[in-house]
Amino acid sequence: MTAKITIKKTFGAILRSASLAAVTSAGLVSGVQASEVEVLHWWTSGGEAKALGTLKSTLESQGVDWKDMPVAGGGGSSAMTVLRSRVMSGNAPTAVQMLGFDILDWGEQGVTADLNDLARAEGWDQVVPKALQKFAKINGQWISAPVNVHSTNWVWGNKAVLDKVGIAVPENWNDFIHAMRKVKAAGYVPLAHGGQAWQDATVFDGVVMATGGIDFYRKALVDLDQNALSSDTMKEVFERMRQLRGLVDDNYPGRDWNLASAMVINGEAAFQMMGDWAKGEFLNAGKTPGDDFVCFRTPGTQGTVTFNADQFAMFEVGRDRQDAQVKMAKAVLSPEFQIAFNTVKGSVPARTDVSDEAFDACGKKAIGDLKEAVASDSLVGSLAHGHAAPAAVKNAFYDVITAHFNGDMSAADAVKQLAASVKNAS
Ligand code: BGC
Repeated sequence: MTAKITIKKTFGAILRSASLAAVTSAGLVSGVQASEVEVLHWWTSGGEAKALGTLKSTLESQGVDWKDMPVAGGGGSSAMTVLRSRVMSGNAPTAVQMLGFDILDWGEQGVTADLNDLARAEGWDQVVPKALQKFAKINGQWISAPVNVHSTNWVWGNKAVLDKVGIAVPENWNDFIHAMRKVKAAGYVPLAHGGQAWQDATVFDGVVMATGGIDFYRKALVDLDQNALSSDTMKEVFERMRQLRGLVDDNYPGRDWNLASAMVINGEAAFQMMGDWAKGEFLNAGKTPGDDFVCFRTPGTQGTVTFNADQFAMFEVGRDRQDAQVKMAKAVLSPEFQIAFNTVKGSVPARTDVSDEAFDACGKKAIGDLKEAVASDSLVGSLAHGHAAPAAVKNAFYDVITAHFNGDMSAADAVKQLAASVKNAS
């Protein structure tokens, strides 16, 4: 523990002196103009790019230019690797798409911006959900601007395929498996999936919730309780992951998530278990909820929400670039932008005072579910997307989940490895 803290402090000191160099020679080091924001993000799919376009045009209308820095990969692990090298060389981007514990980690390094003046003027404390504020501030100081609230315990279904095969929206796990077996027998791919660690983990979020419920989810994935991690319930979770493995097609390894969404969109597959950014792909393809596709909570998780909120963490930049940075942070949390962006992205607003009027049926459900989950204390952070545990622990989960899903490890061995790896990483 002591060693860990020392390493962190040293790293923080290196970063601070590197960012000081960037401040003194801001324009030179970064190559970013005063009226420009350089934004690192992983919104590279069709739906994501369209949503991001609403921010670019909002800023351009205010005289702020956009320097794009896309690094693909859900969950943001690849983007975080690029970010580390940028900050180490004293050349942090203006704003970085970031999730949960990653934001706090960067905040602790002392290289993030202070948004308190803006937050006070805009009343962020009053309108941003508490669950998001927890990840947007460090020692009471706002360091990032929340963009949205997504959640991972969703299933997306092709309406025509379900009608043809004659299946209704499944209410519980066994019905879901039964429905997918029927789909398979009818010649469709039951579950569109991409075998990438973060996608496997996204499915895992929903399976843990469906199998053990909210208390178990909290104990195992948030409290990292060894008894929960090595329990029979966790063994059942892995057995269910194995059931799902039998319902994906042969070409699933490495497939990008949006290509899996496309399989449901074009009627090759019946379902995808994915966060509600998948809805952005359906909308971008001109599809309508209810008519062309259905959205429902992972069977067995109704009433709970495993949330994942994108934020733009703001980094310390030279004085000349602060004005553009503040304009961006202000625009991100404006009610108009929250509606324009989130209706396209598939997420819901990061403010509690925005009406659901402009949202489609799935968006209205998401907003309602979120409210209910807050009221019944059933809102919990997504493990797969960095809101349940810090990156080292998340990665320990990723490793075991993906080794089990893509190999022939038994559920009993997976549970043993999981408990050991998580202990090691925490
Ligand atoms: C982000 C979403 C994004 C998804 C796929 C998640 O980690 O929170 O905004 O759409 O990855 O790229």
